[in-house]
Amino acid sequence: VNLSSNDWQWHPEADAVCRSLIDGGLVAVPTETVYGLAADATSGTACARIFQAKGRPSFNPLISHLPNLEAARHHGVFDDRALKLAEAFWPGPLTLVVPKTKASEISDLATAGLSTVALRVPSGPIMRYLSEITGRPLAAPSANRSGKISPTRAEDVIADLGDALDFVIDAGPCEVGIESTIIGLTDERVTLLRPGGLAREAIESVLQTKVQTAASNSQPEAPAAPGMLTSHYAPNAQMRLHARAVARDEALLSFGADPIEGRDEAFAETNLSPSGDLVEAAARLFQAMRTLDSSGAKTIQVQDIPNTGLGEAINDRLRRAAAPRD
Ligand code: TXA
Ligand code: MG
Repeated sequence: VNLSSNDWQWHPEADAVCRSLIDGGLVAVPTETVYGLAADATSGTACARIFQAKGRPSFNPLISHLPNLEAARHHGVFDDRALKLAEAFWPGPLTLVVPKTKASEISDLATAGLSTVALRVPSGPIMRYLSEITGRPLAAPSANRSGKISPTRAEDVIADLGDALDFVIDAGPCEVGIESTIIGLTDERVTLLRPGGLAREAIESVLQTKVQTAASNSQPEAPAAPGMLTSHYAPNAQMRLHARAVARDEALLSFGADPIEGRDEAFAETNLSPSGDLVEAAARLFQAMRTLDSSGAKTIQVQDIPNTGLGEAINDRLRRAAAPRD
């Protein structure tokens, strides 16, 4: 299904897409962050199809997407902090992990059997529309096979998962380009479970409190933020951070205007933002990794990126992409 963001409600296949979701189908849906692999979160079978398509380890719970805060409150317990954040940043690139309500129909497979639930109201209108029309919370991890780079274009989704999907909705490239920020609110702390498209500083300024960083965990047995495995977003090429120089047979992922030795002769180069804009860099990150990976270079050198604002999420993804593989 090909959609420009203006005509999604009227598309002749919109009904068929909704019916497919209600019947347990898998649909690739664009959001402002990345393309999601969406299915009915209340159906264990539909969620199982997500895990099967992704080849994802089943200890990894999923984010459920909803059309608005009211719908989200049916599934999650919102304290004052959660309400403040939802009111300030929804719809948008923020996921809240809160206690699950008794009334919630979200399946145990979507929450991996936890008593908490990850909820998000995206600003990308298509996911909200589909959730509203179907009346279902939509579980949606990024629409890529486990361990691969998250997709920001429909072409990427089709190349990676095409055969497993009932529909792919193509609304062009994602605006934010990096997954949502995940905040845990299941105890008195405010915990950053995953840095993402909303900067930590924005959250701290609304709550007037420090956000704590979750202990990073590479142990799938005891996941504080399950799914935050160390090696993730893995390109085929070896990634090297803190590049000081680049050789002729290496690719360069650059940032800003600072010169680096060998840059002009590098095998391939993509600059995330020549002007040093971190928002632009986040939006280009995954596509740039794909492009350099497919250049055939065996090594991708990565220039330093400031760790402020969205730089925290960009550096998190780059570290995972560079982490040793098993
Ligand atoms: O931007 C996004 O968030 C995208 C788009 C499609 O919305 N979705 C996405 O979902 O990135 P996924 O499944 O790739 O990431 C889900 C993350 C995982 O790291 C998982 O461990 C965490 O959310 N998560 C889900 N439920 C949780 C829970 N109850 N407690 C802690 N972490 C949870
Ligand atoms: Mg993912």
